[in-house]
Amino acid sequence: MEYRTLGRTGIQVSRLCLGTMSFGGTADEETSAAMFWRCRELGVNFFDTANVYNEGRSEEILGRLIKSCRDEVVLTSKVCQPVGTGANDRGLSRRHIMLEVEKSLKRLNTDRLDLYFVHHFDSHTAMEETLRALDDLQRQGKILHPAVSNWAAWQIAKALGISAKDSLARFECIQPMYNLVKRQAEVELLPLAASEQLGVIPYSPLGGGLLTGKYGAGRRPAQGRLIEQQMYGRRYGDSRYYEIADRFSAYACERGVHPATLAVAWVMSHPAVTAPIIGARSIEQLEPLLAALQLNMTPEWREEISQLSDAPPPATDRSEEA
Ligand SMILES: NC(=O)c1ccc[n+]([C@@H]2O[C@H](COP(=O)([O-])OP(=O)(O)OC[C@H]3O[C@@H](n4cnc5c(N)ncnc54)[C@H](OP(=O)(O)O)[C@@H]3O)[C@@H](O)[C@H]2O)c1
Repeated sequence: MEYRTLGRTGIQVSRLCLGTMSFGGTADEETSAAMFWRCRELGVNFFDTANVYNEGRSEEILGRLIKSCRDEVVLTSKVCQPVGTGANDRGLSRRHIMLEVEKSLKRLNTDRLDLYFVHHFDSHTAMEETLRALDDLQRQGKILHPAVSNWAAWQIAKALGISAKDSLARFECIQPMYNLVKRQAEVELLPLAASEQLGVIPYSPLGGGLLTGKYGAGRRPAQGRLIEQQMYGRRYGDSRYYEIADRFSAYACERGVHPATLAVAWVMSHPAVTAPIIGARSIEQLEPLLAALQLNMTPEWREEISQLSDAPPPATDRSEEA
């Protein structure tokens, strides 16, 4: 297994991170355990979860799995998404963060999280408030590093400035959405990460399953997240995405590679990316994702695959200079 340094932290992480959003949901405990141990067998040491995944069941299952190997794995969790119907059951207030970190630590059977992600932006809480709470948690040893997901680049840049100004622990890792049909991260987030030496662990490398070969223009599988979950159906609802999926699958087939392997390898091959987060509901689904570790993504392949979808326009709008 190849390991990479996560941003400035010095922590060595495997080139793939296993996401556990399916644990306790589309994957029962036995299947989750099989996927976890298969990853461990190959040297994967990086596992991502969140307080909200399957109402805490993902953290509970992961907590039981890491019991015998806590010090060998790098563990994340997240806070912000609603955990109840109460007015304060969400967000990035000190109040909510302090309550939720304790629950995550308990479910995960551990005294510390290696990375603690703010899951979304919270427009009701001052950034200083959130950053101070995270800094306190770091000083208490309950989290080792703050990290951020789903924020715009300007929001992250602003937070890095506040952390520097007030000598607070800064975000050391970002978790953006990134795959062949969702390339917004290329415009500002990935260059920001490269410039500021942030770790990058992109989620949804397969577009929620879109890029696995089973979807195409007018082609849908019997079972799959894009048809089972309304939000994902909307996120990937654009008919152009299905045309890209068709072209991508054909490209992969011509080269004798499983489309899922190629999709993960394409995300991994961006120079700013530390480790894509993979996700599966079974061992059968997981194997082609792990095969990305063995695939040699040449610069030519990366370029040809990138041509299959539109690159997002530059932030300056001066596309003629691209
Ligand atoms: N920070 C955030 O906001 C955020 C958001 C999403 C995810 N995440 C993290 O990132 C991880 C990965 O995200 P993701 O699950 O969206 O990743 P993804 O790679 O885009 O999609 C994974 C899904 O694709 C399908 N799939 C996987 N392998 C397949 C195969 N070989 N053949 C056919 N279908 C296959 C499965 O869904 P079906 O069987 O249903 O088709 C699987 O659950 C999550 O576990 C979580 O840890 C974070």
